[in-house]
Amino acid sequence: MREIGVGLLGLGNVGAGVVRLLADNEKAIEARLGAKLVIKAAAVRDVDRERRVDVDPAILTTDVDGISARDDIEIVCELIGGVTKARDLVLGAIAKRKQIVTANKALLAVHGDEIYAAAERAGVDIYYEAAVCGGIPIIRTLREGLASDRIESIAGIVNGTSNFIVTAMAKGGREFSEVLAEAQEQGYAEADPTLDIGGGDAAHKLAILAMLSFDCRVDLDKIYVEGIESLEAIDYQMAKDFGFVIKPLALGRRYPEGIDLRVHPTMIPASWLLADVPDTKNALYVNSYALGASMYYGAGAGMMPTAMSVVSDLIEVARNICAGVTGSKPMRSQQSLESREILPIEKVETRYYLRFSVEDRPGVLGQLTTVLGAHGISISELLQRGERGPNAQVSVIAFTHKTQEGRLRAALSAIDSTALTSAPTMTIRLAS
Ligand code: NDP
Ligand code: HSE
Repeated sequence: MREIGVGLLGLGNVGAGVVRLLADNEKAIEARLGAKLVIKAAAVRDVDRERRVDVDPAILTTDVDGISARDDIEIVCELIGGVTKARDLVLGAIAKRKQIVTANKALLAVHGDEIYAAAERAGVDIYYEAAVCGGIPIIRTLREGLASDRIESIAGIVNGTSNFIVTAMAKGGREFSEVLAEAQEQGYAEADPTLDIGGGDAAHKLAILAMLSFDCRVDLDKIYVEGIESLEAIDYQMAKDFGFVIKPLALGRRYPEGIDLRVHPTMIPASWLLADVPDTKNALYVNSYALGASMYYGAGAGMMPTAMSVVSDLIEVARNICAGVTGSKPMRSQQSLESREILPIEKVETRYYLRFSVEDRPGVLGQLTTVLGAHGISISELLQRGERGPNAQVSVIAFTHKTQEGRLRAALSAIDSTALTSAPTMTIRLAS
């Protein structure tokens, strides 16, 4: 049986899962592929570190740059994360005409144009199913399943760690830091967890999803990003009281004048399917011209679900190698991508939840509503919460009707620049 050599760059959470899955499903994979995938080397920083899987010590090496020079390796599987070293390694491997599999969304969101173009020029494959939504085969779905359709909008929970945190916080009784530590322990969080909680990881994934959904190049810096760090227990409670659930959403929508791309905590009706996506689960809701609404759900992070996507990519690339067609069907032909404007956040129109921190004294509500009204912002619900504590500080909660974000920002800046509020007003966008 033909052997196809694989070189792993990285043997952390995902790398260990790849080794385990290739061993556990060895026979089935061989039968489906008609060839044998063999890990010839695994590059790590520290060969003595304890691994989550048993590996033959002979395959471990710290010579990460040497992997793509090896003749017995046909596929280089990048699982080290980060953007700088990973870019050099992937471009180096492409130059040596190795096929590439990666789970690295940050790499593709930042250096994707350069990497896809290099792969296209060299005629090699680059597969990245695990980079978005871990184990959900969403890249294949967008690229192949919906290839004949026109996607109008996407809305997804694409970061498992932040969904895990908001799910736990909505139940109450746990500290943010404790829940984050659990996600890190389970291997869901990024090496730098601020990417998870700050929305950066979701933005990386949205950049990839938007390229595939809207056929455009995406400048990562133009995606509006807000994390989940400033949400407080009262916000989860208020969401519940008004029939909503707070979820960390990545949103994309096609408009004639450009593409709206944003990542932020969003209040969604409790009756929506996305509201029922718990813990580290991910889901992507797609609205397309011919199919209409469709949703894709599953494990968005973790050792084995992510490894499943990586190994499926290895199988697909190996099939291409066996058929002699590598590089002949790029994920997205770079020449066909359009440059579309990404709409500034000020142009977004939606409903808002506002939480004002104010003193409980006569006239406060009147002053708040006067400023909002002067900016053309209409309130749909208004209430006050909280015991009169020291200095009589309370929360005033307002839900607005649909309004333009630029207008809302001007109103809040006018309010927060006075002594009326004791802290910046909390704003959460509602799904619209
Ligand atoms: P880990 O931090 O667990 O593993 C990284 C591995 O890379 C380690 O084995 C580390 O070596 C090795 N490494 C890092 N830098 C170097 C270097 N310069 N030279 C040699 N080896 C190096 O990361 P994960 O496995 O969690 O993630 C890997 C990739 O997969 C990332 O891009 C991540 O975003 C992505 N991903 C992760 C998911 C998850 O659930 N964890 C889900 C989807 C994608 P050593 O062990 O010696 O330190
Ligand atoms: N840190 C990421 C998450 C891993 O929590 O979703 C999956 O990409």
